Amino acid sequence: MIYLNGKFMPIEEACVPVLDRGFIFGDGIYEVIPVYSRNPFRLAEHLNRLQHSLDGIRLKNPFSDTDWKNLLEQVIAKNEGEDQYLYLHITRGVAKRDHAFPANVPPTVFIMSNPLLPPPAELLVSGASAITATDNRWIRCDVKAISLLPNVLLRQLAVDVHAIETILIRDGFLTEGAASNIFVVKDKMLLAPPKSHLMLPGITYDVVLELAATNRIAHEVREISETEIRTADEILLTSSTKEIMPITFLDNNSVGSGKPGAMFTQLHTLYQQYKATHMRGNISGTEVL
Ligand code: PDD
Repeated sequence: MIYLNGKFMPIEEACVPVLDRGFIFGDGIYEVIPVYSRNPFRLAEHLNRLQHSLDGIRLKNPFSDTDWKNLLEQVIAKNEGEDQYLYLHITRGVAKRDHAFPANVPPTVFIMSNPLLPPPAELLVSGASAITATDNRWIRCDVKAISLLPNVLLRQLAVDVHAIETILIRDGFLTEGAASNIFVVKDKMLLAPPKSHLMLPGITYDVVLELAATNRIAHEVREISETEIRTADEILLTSSTKEIMPITFLDNNSVGSGKPGAMFTQLHTLYQQYKATHMRGNISGTEVL
């Protein structure tokens, strides 16, 4: 069952008018939230980022955090599977086509849930391939906008050569993946690009940096040059749906030994432990709304 503008219904019955500004202009934002054992993961952080995206496009949040939490709980309960991923999508509503914002138009709010499947075990054991491309997106990549055409085209470049991701480089420096964040490991040091308007502030990215800090893993958040990507000992990819994955081939060259490295193994283990703790409800602080 999905949620659309106040109603729950099967996805086959869900329709939006063709004049929806999401359809006409890509005028909206979205979030993707993993759910483990029917518990939304890092909900407070996802709702903060949702607010940041709404602020970025000057759209009022239709709900309070408590309302969102209740609504998402209902969507989770109405769908099968212990592990799900929620997709939330808010557009500037339905109005006669005009670039300028319409006055007094309610937003379109859509939520769906899909089964959350872990990345295939063989990719975690042998690693995955990625390619690089020039980051030609707009310069508000911190907004999780539904207008994803550049990301779609960039990601397809990887799919065309049977790679799993396109790693983006802007002005000689790493930004992120077409649908993920990217970390580099050199001489046992975990390197992460700093958050800016040029990348999405990943929730998984934050978890990985927190795990590095609490487990005394040497890490630095700083600009990463293209040369550093190409001479990395390890490259790691993170996202809500893929968690942490090792990239062992880049543009057909092996990364380090060409096998998932020690940093991947350690962070992947820590991430699984962190998830398990979260599922037992043992995490307080920002986790609790
Ligand atoms: N994408 N950067 C981009 C461009 C992304 O699209 C994503 C996630 C990330 C990782 O963010 P997080 O760790 O919060 O998932 C970084 C989601 C999964 C998607 O669009 O499906």
